[in-house]
Amino acid sequence: MERPVVALVGARSRAERLLDKLSLSEKIGQLVLVDGADENVSQSLHRAVAEGRVGSVINEVDPLKVAKLQRIAREETAHGIPLLIGRDVIHGFKTIFPIPLGLAATWNEELVEACAKTSAEEAAHHGVNWTFAPMIDVSRDPRWGRIAESFGEDPYLTARMGTAMVRGFQNGTEDQLLSCLKHFAGYGASESGKDYDTTNIPEIELRNVYLPPFKACLDAGALTIMPSFSDLNGIPASGNAWLMRDLLRGEWCFAGFVVSDWCSIPQLAMHGVVENERDAALQAARAGVNMDMVGGSYATHLEALVENGILAPAVIDELVREVLTVKFEAGLFDSVPRPMRPTASPDQATSLALRAAQESLVLLKNNDGLLPFSADSGKVCLLGPLADQAYEQLGTWVFDADLSRSVSVKDAFAQRLGDRLSFDCVLKTSRDKSLAGLDQARQLARECDHVVLVLGEESILSGEAHCRADVGLPGAQASLVSEMSSLGKPVVVVVMAGRPLVISDVVREADAVVYAWHPGTMAGPAICNVLFGDADVRGRLPVSLPRAAGQIPIYYAHGHTGKPVTADTLVHIDDIAPGAPQTSIGNASFHLDVHPSPLFPFGFGLSYGRFLYKDLHLITAGAKGFEVAVNVANIGERAGSETVQLYTRDLVASATRPVRELKAHKHIRLDAGEHREVRFALTREDLKFFNGSEYVFEPGRFRVWVGADSTASLSLEVQLD
Ligand code: BGC
Repeated sequence: MERPVVALVGARSRAERLLDKLSLSEKIGQLVLVDGADENVSQSLHRAVAEGRVGSVINEVDPLKVAKLQRIAREETAHGIPLLIGRDVIHGFKTIFPIPLGLAATWNEELVEACAKTSAEEAAHHGVNWTFAPMIDVSRDPRWGRIAESFGEDPYLTARMGTAMVRGFQNGTEDQLLSCLKHFAGYGASESGKDYDTTNIPEIELRNVYLPPFKACLDAGALTIMPSFSDLNGIPASGNAWLMRDLLRGEWCFAGFVVSDWCSIPQLAMHGVVENERDAALQAARAGVNMDMVGGSYATHLEALVENGILAPAVIDELVREVLTVKFEAGLFDSVPRPMRPTASPDQATSLALRAAQESLVLLKNNDGLLPFSADSGKVCLLGPLADQAYEQLGTWVFDADLSRSVSVKDAFAQRLGDRLSFDCVLKTSRDKSLAGLDQARQLARECDHVVLVLGEESILSGEAHCRADVGLPGAQASLVSEMSSLGKPVVVVVMAGRPLVISDVVREADAVVYAWHPGTMAGPAICNVLFGDADVRGRLPVSLPRAAGQIPIYYAHGHTGKPVTADTLVHIDDIAPGAPQTSIGNASFHLDVHPSPLFPFGFGLSYGRFLYKDLHLITAGAKGFEVAVNVANIGERAGSETVQLYTRDLVASATRPVRELKAHKHIRLDAGEHREVRFALTREDLKFFNGSEYVFEPGRFRVWVGADSTASLSLEVQLD
């Protein structure tokens, strides 16, 4: 399925020949996606499929039922058109990998591709052949629940992770899934971080920040795409002809198809851009939405719209041709129906889940090398509402998870430590406000050498429609950290969450902090292995961690502004004299009551090694681009992994440019005392941007930083003519 977007010629001509044979109602059937889990639908589904009124089904994952539906579609209909069977396989099917935000924290494309391939295999064994992933909405707002399902704040990282996932799903084996990119476009910019809310994104930002991951994933071979629920600059995405016709099909030559989001076609009337559902169907079809997900509007209205001469038959033909082209291209017509088989080797999937979970963990603080614990670490007191939660550690979107294989932190610690472990959840859920069990927890902690607290958010607190305004630790968890830190024992905090939380106080009080996202099936063993040093800690933040919710949105690639804040211009609220006369204090862009930096910057993560960067130098700079090299040494006492990151800034351009942009990264692993040269080559293509009217490379001066995160200080200037 990995083809350039314009190359579907063979499939398209087969689609054309088939299209000629279909009646209007059979054509419309190909544009209808129904919910197999809806009882009202499932009772009459066989008949609807047999009559050619349904072309795709979502949420039916019983292999026997799927096989029967496919047999009806192929053998009992006039034209034998196979069904697309869709499911949200977001970060695993039976085996659950870290949430996408956690996968992004691995910065490891091969690993993400492998996870998607395994997910595809497990889902395909249940009859699924299409998934609504990856979600490649650049997300800069921790309040938005769907940040969990994203790859974070950066277009480069999102594109790299997204394309890896597309390759993993569309893997060229018989167990592959068609990938659907979502949500087109700018869904992550919903106002105030509330799901489904309005988005207003100037074209310059849309094209430089939100669109690049979509273009990259289409180039990687994705053939289907989903518009967002939200409106974009006043026009709801599901009825937005500029997005789906001018940009997607016109400028990008997209030859696949667009599926609406769940009921997003009838919701055009809710948005108030059309009078009723009939007009919603008309607007969506004209705007280029090929398939109506569950909304029923196409099934109910398209035929009459054509017969009454309101909608041109050619529009229907085009929409159907694109759907059939994808069905041919995906090999649906050519594959032989096979008996469903048991899930592919669970052992292999489990070890991949362990590796992914380990690599997703980000070490934020490690005072005095507290971690990793040594083998003779003594007794450990494990506390916290998420320490023994096989379900909550899986995160959002886990409809099909095999819960019986999910191993909690407590189980993994118990296996390693036996009677050297004491456990008490203290708080029943992450939202529990009562510290009634505190005395007992204190007692346990006093008897132990180390305290490990597993805190965060239950899975239901993030994901679709689960947005928060106060993005701190819920309930009494922060107080629990304070109480435990006051005992004088070393305290390690592990945070499992679907978003970057504001944890400034916790970080100040704890001795070590690990950010774990929702790590999935193997959360327990992964956290245990990393804390005890059996596995490297190598995750890097795919989002900035704010100091305070009022800083949101806070992201490293912000504009420079005409009045950037510096140490000299920064003023704190407490330094202002009472009765001070009006001034433009500091004359710079900052809040008076919080330091302008994030608590931890994008790209940050500690390692068990200690890395020193030096000797950054230019190797070449010419007509094609430039190459730089840097020397990285592990000056720590242990081996460790490092993610070497390269950022650039276009110093003078025709439009304002971000202060820094991530352009490349490489993983290295160095033994203690080892050093290595790392090289990066960038082309002019990598430095292009949209300046308000066109994509351009503008010759001139560029600053290049190489280092361990987005605040790297080692830099040089390159002149490119
Ligand atoms: C979500 C989509 C998802 C679809 C199908 C919608 O509510 O926005 O991302 O793919 O449901 O489950």
